[in-house]
Amino acid sequence: MNKKPRLPWLLPMFPTIRRPNMTQFSPLVGVRMTGSGAATPERILTNDQLAQMVETNDDWIRSRTGIRERRLVSNSRESVASLATLAAQRAIAQAGITAEDLDLIILATSTTDDLFGTATQVQARLGAQRAVAFDLVAACSGFVFGLVTASQYIHTGAFRNVLLIGADVLSRWVDWGDRRTCILFGDGAGAVVLQAGDRNQILGWELRSDGQGHGLLNIAYSTEQQRFEPITMNGQEVYRFAVRCVPDVIAKALHRAEHAIGEVDWLILHQANQRIIDAVVDRLHLPPERAISNMATYGNTSAASIPIALAEWVDSGKILPGHLIVASGFGAGLSWGAVVWRWG
Ligand code: COA
Repeated sequence: MNKKPRLPWLLPMFPTIRRPNMTQFSPLVGVRMTGSGAATPERILTNDQLAQMVETNDDWIRSRTGIRERRLVSNSRESVASLATLAAQRAIAQAGITAEDLDLIILATSTTDDLFGTATQVQARLGAQRAVAFDLVAACSGFVFGLVTASQYIHTGAFRNVLLIGADVLSRWVDWGDRRTCILFGDGAGAVVLQAGDRNQILGWELRSDGQGHGLLNIAYSTEQQRFEPITMNGQEVYRFAVRCVPDVIAKALHRAEHAIGEVDWLILHQANQRIIDAVVDRLHLPPERAISNMATYGNTSAASIPIALAEWVDSGKILPGHLIVASGFGAGLSWGAVVWRWG
């Protein structure tokens, strides 16, 4: 049978469908970020306690990283799913919606409870019956990659209410005898609610990958051992990569958003190392007080670090509706990216 193409004669009725150069700047539907929440484990591990486990000391860790303590899952009730669910409940409450309103749940994590995915467990725990749920893996860039992904579903009109969670329990994957890595990481979760709106508040973004640097930071599967190995990292190279690439990606995202660095109210960098934050702030010529930092109390919580920092600054009334925020995630992959948005 000779089938006629059905779409072309419909296109004049929907001119936006034909627009071949549709970019992030001309979304069909606007996106607003309307809620945020965070959850961290109860147990605290201080630098002094770490110094009893490996040859290190509080001075060394503070001066090289800015970290004083971190929070670690410590019992069978605490997991990626439990922390993600708690952070999500707080974000949903702040947005003034219910779990049943959610259309989509994206869980950014690299430390899943189950290799088949953890997002559906979170969906069940929340009672978000209508929502489709999946995991997204992009290491410490997970929240930023997830924010861009989630926004696309809303921009296209496919979904109206999206929950994005960044949650990681890297403590499960750290070699607690390796002082070069075990001092850095902590566990936690942060979440945001994104909703369709008349005005678009997700203003610009830039995402990057470079698989050539894949070997610099890994939790690799060993075919010999038939299991995943603990985290391995080339600290100096990762440091150099972050300081070189992050200012560039932030500048590009701001350019796309048509904003200058001087207009930014808050910079939320992935909380990896205070020295990285200081170097990036310096290169961007940003007043240091606009750079959010809470790694002293949480360490590097991977995909959770940006949304935890966001939720804390929103809850303490420092981030206000209309404030211009730029966030940048970076890490294993290598992957890195930045997003510019207005809160609320
Ligand atoms: N305590 C005390 N000494 C330590 C130590 C620790 N926890 N870890 C390493 N050292 C020692 C090293 O053995 C080395 O000793 P040596 O000179 O006798 O060999 C010395 O300190 C310097 O080691 P180096 O690796 O050069 O330190 P550094 O200045 O690069 O700092 C990091 C190490 C990990 C803090 C730093 O490289 C870093 O922060 N990198 C970025 C990591 C990151 O952010 N990763 C996540 C990205 S998502």
